[in-house]
Amino acid sequence: MSTLGQSTNIFWQDCGVGRSEREKLLKQRGCVVWITGLSGSGKSTLACTLSRQLHSRGNLSYVLDGDNLRHGLNKDLGFKAEDRVENIRRVGEVAKLFSDSGLICIASFISPYRKDRETCRALLPDGSFIEVYMDIPLNVCEERDPKGLYKLARAGKIKGFTGIDDPYEEPLNCEIKMQEENGVCPCPFSMAGKVVSYLEDRGFLHEGY
Ligand SMILES: Nc1ncnc2c1ncn2[C@@H]1O[C@H](COP(=O)(O)OP(=O)(O)OP(=O)(O)O)[C@@H](O)[C@H]1O
Ligand SMILES: [Mg+2]
Repeated sequence: MSTLGQSTNIFWQDCGVGRSEREKLLKQRGCVVWITGLSGSGKSTLACTLSRQLHSRGNLSYVLDGDNLRHGLNKDLGFKAEDRVENIRRVGEVAKLFSDSGLICIASFISPYRKDRETCRALLPDGSFIEVYMDIPLNVCEERDPKGLYKLARAGKIKGFTGIDDPYEEPLNCEIKMQEENGVCPCPFSMAGKVVSYLEDRGFLHEGY
């Protein structure tokens, strides 16, 4: 008998079509670009710009975005600590499947807890979890506030808002960091270009490795 989590009598079903065959078909290597940072730091903007750049050069990607996943798969979850953990656990598993399919999976989530991001990293083959930290100061994010959420959080109308009354744990060893240069935030296009170069240099955008 096989016991796994809450389940018994569970066996792994292998499939004849494997990852490397799919990657050959797509002429790229599957991976996860995990974009983390405060609300308003530009995660979704970068995710979409990156997906567009990859598409233009013939690479298949898919964006998993925090807000969008909360419309469906994660709509039963709120923002208390245990729900945030479960949110990221599920996303990590989905991202793993997407990258195994050969896609460049772009995950855009605040993902405030270091441990949860590291758990997602550990699900993937070495080198194929690329953590991108939007290291944009809180005051800049708060000034942008396109959804008006910081205003509500400051007024105490939203509790447990990351950066205000809930922690954000910075990555210690991220692969790519996005920061202001001389007090100016680089444009989304140049940030996406930085990620494309990283992927290109490590052979994710070509067949064979
Ligand atoms: N590189 C950039 N330079 C200047 N403004 C930017 C940049 N990237 C995003 N913005 C602006 O910042 C705001 C927030 O961006 P975005 O929605 O992508 O943030 P987010 O990190 O996805 O936030 P959330 O976690 O709330 O979804 C938007 O108004 C966007 O136009
Ligand atoms: Mg977003």
